[in-house]
This record gives sequence, structure tokens and C-alpha cells, in this order.
Amino acid sequence: MRFLPLLCIGTLLTCNSPTPDTAPTTEAPEPAGLRDAAPFPIGGAINIRQVLSDEQLRDITTTEFSSLTSTNDMKMYRIADTEGELDFARADSTVAFAAEHGMRMFGHALVWHYALPDYIADMPAEELRIFLTEYIDTVVTHFRGRIDGWDVVNEVLDTKGGGMRDSPFYEKLGTDYIGLAFRTARRADPDAKLFINDFGTERDTAKLSGLLRLVDSLRAEEVPIDGIGFQWHQQMRDDTNTVRQTLRRAAATGLLIHISELDLIFNTHNDEAGGGTDDVQAVTPAMLEEQAERFETLARIYREEVPADQQYGITFWDFTDRDTWIRGFFDMGDWPTVFDEELARKPGYYGFRRGLGE
Ligand code: G3I
Repeated sequence: MRFLPLLCIGTLLTCNSPTPDTAPTTEAPEPAGLRDAAPFPIGGAINIRQVLSDEQLRDITTTEFSSLTSTNDMKMYRIADTEGELDFARADSTVAFAAEHGMRMFGHALVWHYALPDYIADMPAEELRIFLTEYIDTVVTHFRGRIDGWDVVNEVLDTKGGGMRDSPFYEKLGTDYIGLAFRTARRADPDAKLFINDFGTERDTAKLSGLLRLVDSLRAEEVPIDGIGFQWHQQMRDDTNTVRQTLRRAAATGLLIHISELDLIFNTHNDEAGGGTDDVQAVTPAMLEEQAERFETLARIYREEVPADQQYGITFWDFTDRDTWIRGFFDMGDWPTVFDEELARKPGYYGFRRGLGE
């Protein structure tokens, strides 16, 4: 199958605010945003159409972040929704916004079992292999030099434990699809950093072991992998000691470490859509302080456990309680981010900033 790329519109931009990273002139200057307080990139996941249409959100984005990830617009169901065509319009618009504001652009995600176009389901194995190769080649080539790194494969492990996820790719191509994806991405853009990204690996040590075994076997086969992404969709009940140990084990690989999707909830869930428990129905100032302490600890753990040359950065996955995916997906109330419903900085924001070494 040959793709007919739809043209990159990339000019939906109306942004005009300069990057507000100029230091204040007072004697004890406050960092303007997280990006100024951090020794490594701080990222935000955004929906470009929302950012361009909401001035307050746009100001937060440009003030706080030095790296951007598109929440959904670089997923296969957005780029390759129509069979035989690729639509880069929203992705290009996001990349242009990042470039205009001097931010690093991160690509999420080339291969994921979820958010796929419907036609994938009917593809026989060989057709799927060709499709996957062409898709990765075309997409990574399209963004060559403009995207710093990619989640090449996302969530290839089962939800719990260290086994492989039974995805359409695994079912038809076995584990080979992973090496194929990395090699194709490397050929298309030799300079892009290539990541394997997953969730729950900060609390499920068997899953982390499975991930590290997989990384070892990929490297033994000379598969070009540069980094490990920890999503870090964390819960207040998580054990921070385990978070520290898991990060230390991953850092020992010598690979880049990206905290790719940080948020922090009070409630819990079973990892399924609609599976939230909703025990905690209201947030108090004391709870927000506890959350602030936890954000501080998490930032500190990252700084302490990941050597500086492996620190690819920390990215927030939705950064306002108004917009968080958690509420809709798990069907529960929660307050997982560092900005509140009115888009004001929460205690968690300042806690995180303290953890960056302020
Ligand atoms: O844009 C449509 C809208 O037009 C429509 O009316 C509405 C009705 O459902 O759907 C809207 O699209 C939704 C989209 O989010 C934008 O809100 C999709 O249905 C919904 O499936 C999609 O969910 C995203 C999910 O990934 C699946 O792609 C979440 O926003 C996004 O936060 C979530 O992100 C994932 C990471 O990629 C991987 N790690 C876990 C993380 C959280 O689930």
C-alpha cells in the first residue's frame, strides 16, 4: 500500500505571544515557569486546537513547558484514519507551535494497540507488516529534524505482570513487530531518540522486570532503542520507595529516561475505562498539601535517580484539573494535575517546582 500524504496545513497558527522566559529583574527572581526552574525539559501534553483557541491555556503552555507532546493528534487513528491517506494537519500545527515557541517536540505514538483506524483489524499478517513499515517510514520521514524523539512502541506489555500484550500487532506478527518498528524509525530519522513507553512500571515490579528483559533482548539483537518512557500515571497510595527503586533499575540500563505522562490521583481504578472507585469525592486543602509533597518527592526522585545525561525530562499528561482525561476515562472525580479548574497553580505546582531543586 502506498500512502497519499494529505498536505500539511500547519498554518492554523494565530499564536503571537513571545516565549515569556525572560528572567524578572527583581532581586530574588522567581522562575517564570517550570521550564525555567528545571535542569531538564519539562513537557506538557496538548490538544493544539484547544491551545490555539484558549488564550489562558496557551499562556500556561508557553510559560511552563520546554517540550510538547500531542495528546492525540499523532496517533494512528488521527494520522491514518482513511485507508491509503495520511493526514498531518493537526500534527503539523502542533509541531509548528512548538517550533515557534522554542520548544522540543516529542512524538506520541507510532505503534499502539489502541486508537487505531478500524481497517487495521481485517489486515492479514503480511499486509499488516507492510502497512506498519510504510506508516512508520512515511510519518517519521515527514517529521524528520522536527521531532526530537518518538514513543516508537507504546504499552506493548500486558496491563499487569511482565507478559506481552495481546495486541493486533503481537497476535499477527509476534514480538518481531517491535524490532521492525524501531529499525524503520531509525532509518527514517537517524537523529530521533527512540523510546519504548509503558504504564504501571513504577508500581508493578514484575511488569518492570518484563520491560527490562524485553529491552535487554532488543539491545542484544541490536535494535536501535534510546530510551524508556515511564508514563507515571500515579496514585497517592503508591509507595514512593518502589517508585524510586523502579526508576533506579531502569536508569541502570544507561538509556534515556522520560517520565512521559505524569499525573497523580487520590482515587484508584482498575485500569479499565469506567473502572474508577471514586472513594474520594471532595478535595480539601490538607489533601492538596499532601499532593504537593508527593509531586515534590517525585521530581526529586527523578533528579536523584536518573543521571543528568539520561534525563530526557518530565511531561505532564493534561496539566489542568479542568481538562484531565482521568475524570472522563475512569468515570470518577479527581484532581490529578498541577493547575486547578480555574487554571490557577495548585499547591502541587509549587511542590513539583521545589522538587526540581528550587
Ligand atoms: O475528538 C472527539 C470528539 O469529536 C468526540 O465528540 C468525542 C466523543 O467521544 O471524542 C473525541 O475524541 C476523544 C479524544 O480523546 C479527545 O478527547 C476520543 O474519543 C478518546 O478516545 C480520546 O482519548 C484519549 C486516549 O488516550 C485514547 O487515544 C485521551 O484523550 C488521551 O489522554 C489518552 O492518552 C493515553 C496515552 O495516549 C497513552 N497512555 C495512557 C493515556 C491515558 O489513557
